[in-house]
This record gives sequence, C-alpha cells and structure tokens, in this order.
Amino acid sequence: MIITIDGPAGAGKGTISAFVAQKYKLAYFDTGMVYRAVGLQMVLDGVDLSDTERATEIAKALTFPQMMTLAKHKDFRSDVGSHAASCVSVIPSVRKALLKMQQDFALQPVFADGTPANGVVYDGRDTGTVICPNADLKFYITAPVEIRAQRRCNDLIAAGIDTDYEKVLEQMKARDARDMGRASAPLTKPDGAVEIDTSLYPTEKNLQDVAKIIDKKFGF
Ligand code: DC
Repeated sequence: MIITIDGPAGAGKGTISAFVAQKYKLAYFDTGMVYRAVGLQMVLDGVDLSDTERATEIAKALTFPQMMTLAKHKDFRSDVGSHAASCVSVIPSVRKALLKMQQDFALQPVFADGTPANGVVYDGRDTGTVICPNADLKFYITAPVEIRAQRRCNDLIAAGIDTDYEKVLEQMKARDARDMGRASAPLTKPDGAVEIDTSLYPTEKNLQDVAKIIDKKFGF
C-alpha cells in the first residue's frame, strides 16, 4: 500500500502523514529530508549553495544512515537548513541523484526501528508525480500562503525564537516560487489526487476526512 501526500511548505502534510502512518501502520518517508541532508552538508562544508557540481556529488554519495545522522543536527530543520534545502532542490542533477533512494524505500519499507512495514506513506512535493506515480492513493494538501506563514510564525514563537510575520511571509512566498517554478519536478497537484485545504476546518476534522477516504479506498 503506497499513499503519497504532496503540497507546499506549512500546509500540514507532516501532521497528516504522521497520523496516516500511525493509524494504518505504514512506514513514513519524509522526502524533504533528502534535500535537507544535501543542503545542510553544503552548509557544513562551507560550500556556496549555487555550486551545482558539489551539490550533485553530495547527493550521489548520500546514504540513508548518513541522512539520519544529519537529521540530528540543530540546523537540519532551522531556517538555515530550510533555505539550503530549498536551494539545492531546484538543481535537476541533485533531484536525479536522489530519486532512486526515495523510490527504493517502497520496495522494502521499514519503520524507524528497522522492522518491516506493509506499505509506506510518502510526504513531499513530487511523491505522487515523480517518485510514485503509481501510488494507490494520492493527496494534495494545501492552504493559503498567509495562513501557512502564520503557522510557521506560531511554531517559531512556541520555540522561543523572535519572529516577524512579514519576513516569514516573504520567505514562504520565495519557497513556493522555487518549489512551483523549478524546471525539474515542480510542485503540482498530481493527477487523481484528493485535494484538502487544511485552513477550512480544524485539524481533527481534516484527519478524520483523510481516514474516511483511506478506509473507503481500501475497504477497511
Ligand atoms: O518539506 P520540507 O520543508 O522538509 O522540504 C525541504 C525542501 O525540500 C523544500 O524547499 C522543498 C524540497 N522538497 C522537494 O523539492 N521535493 C520533495 N519531494 C520534498 C521536498
């Protein structure tokens, strides 16, 4: 069973993916991690983020265990890491180098502790279009950019980080432009995907709606 969950930054994909993975006992691949790993390695190596050749070399050499080690770094999910990931993700040769690793996960999906799973939920920008075009079920999760920026601000404030809404909104718009405007695998709603605007209803209702769609699709 393969379920893909795509959408822009801050739309709520992570919350929905974690819920789906837990409820249906599926392995979870947060595909943004591969770009975060490459971007952070560039930052740690002091390489300019526009150095396509180095980014491609790092992407080609990236292994799953190395990605999990980088994920423990303080900047893996910080603004520094998010910016670096967004920059390297527009490089077509980086995307190409990281494709097999992401696709192979579905052949033998495993939980975080290494035990085998019966399926996988992919979360990202191109999981229903490029990584698993033959997925059993596809979702496209979205919300207006102003709402997504406000959510990001709330997260930063909750983490005790000084924040400015207008600045976060500009950063969010810039990330959207890179995600949706890049030449290789731009973010788009996959054919046949179920679209959910998470700003319309409370999170609990959105999760229950997703569960109803999955139950109907698989006859649970
Ligand atoms: O979902 P995220 O914020 O962790 O993703 C980090 C970056 O990686 C983001 O700028 C978009 C990019 N990305 C991508 O290009 N394709 C994916 N399948 C997942 C993420």
